[in-house]
Amino acid sequence: MLEVNLSGLKLKSPIILASGILGVSFSSMKRVIDAGAGAVTTKSIGPKPRKGYKNPSIIEIYPGTFMNSVGLANPGIDEFISEIKEIKKHNIPLIVSVFGDTKEVYLDVAIKAEKAGADAIEMNISCPHAEVASIGIDKDLTYEIVKFLKEKLTLPLFVKLNPNVTCIAEIAFAAERGGADGVVAINTLSALKIDVNTKNPILSHGSGGLSGKAIHPIAVKKVYELFKILKIPIIGCGGIDSWQDVIEFFLAGASAVQIGTALYKGTAIITEIINGITQYLKDNSYTSITDIKGLTHQVKTQEVPDFD
Ligand SMILES: Cc1cc2nc3c(=O)[nH]c(=O)nc-3n(C[C@H](O)[C@H](O)[C@H](O)COP(=O)(O)O)c2cc1C
Repeated sequence: MLEVNLSGLKLKSPIILASGILGVSFSSMKRVIDAGAGAVTTKSIGPKPRKGYKNPSIIEIYPGTFMNSVGLANPGIDEFISEIKEIKKHNIPLIVSVFGDTKEVYLDVAIKAEKAGADAIEMNISCPHAEVASIGIDKDLTYEIVKFLKEKLTLPLFVKLNPNVTCIAEIAFAAERGGADGVVAINTLSALKIDVNTKNPILSHGSGGLSGKAIHPIAVKKVYELFKILKIPIIGCGGIDSWQDVIEFFLAGASAVQIGTALYKGTAIITEIINGITQYLKDNSYTSITDIKGLTHQVKTQEVPDFD
């Protein structure tokens, strides 16, 4: 009932751990799978170890809504290879998120991840507080890098989109033309929170990325827009906190979803979501989660009324 096939990546459930949420260790990945997730995505991994920004780098600004500027802290691909191998020893479906500053660097990191046993590659071209954001705002650069990677990789390649653009559809379309096997919508939204007493930004980096509850309706709208123009699967991501949030993503056109921030409450939320989705499908006499994909597009929304 919950199985999905994302361009050849077959998952037992459509819930995937979002990148950067639970570190990179095997033990945290296993907890997520045991709770019912179909796959895990690693933190974004680059060519070299990177420390990231100083604390405070994560804050909760409203209940369930966070801002972070972790700054792509990661151990570097060479160090991370042993972790990939360890995760794969236990047969955990693994998506490795990669980043770099040139197409050659992206490819080098992705090829190393592929050789180490990853099941799919996610290209992070979208972190709002790091230099990779500049790729995800340029459709020509997106097309060029995706095409370059697809020519050399055999694994499915997903492209994680930056919502901080005027037209997300043109970037997604460029990724599809370049050969991407799917897109992930969305990464965090660029945001700033100021301490009124010190008059300084609260995060050490200044601005950061907004995630969690508040961004869910924005992410659903992006998935809805993308479903109208893309042929490749869309993985909905942003603000999932309940089974209803997942159903909304599917109705808007998602083929799978990623969950991030809500895991601060623990991995049991994944099991609750899976139980909720299963019950919803049974109650509405659907046999598969894919039966509800894009259904909201059948509803004709009201046209802008003419002026007299
Ligand atoms: C602390 C933190 C670290 C993150 N690190 C990454 C990362 O390394 N790579 C990436 O593509 N997205 C990263 N993200 C973005 C999430 O994967 C996700 O796209 C975003 O948080 C929206 O989903 P959510 O509202 O369910 O958290 C990070 C988010 C948070 C909160």
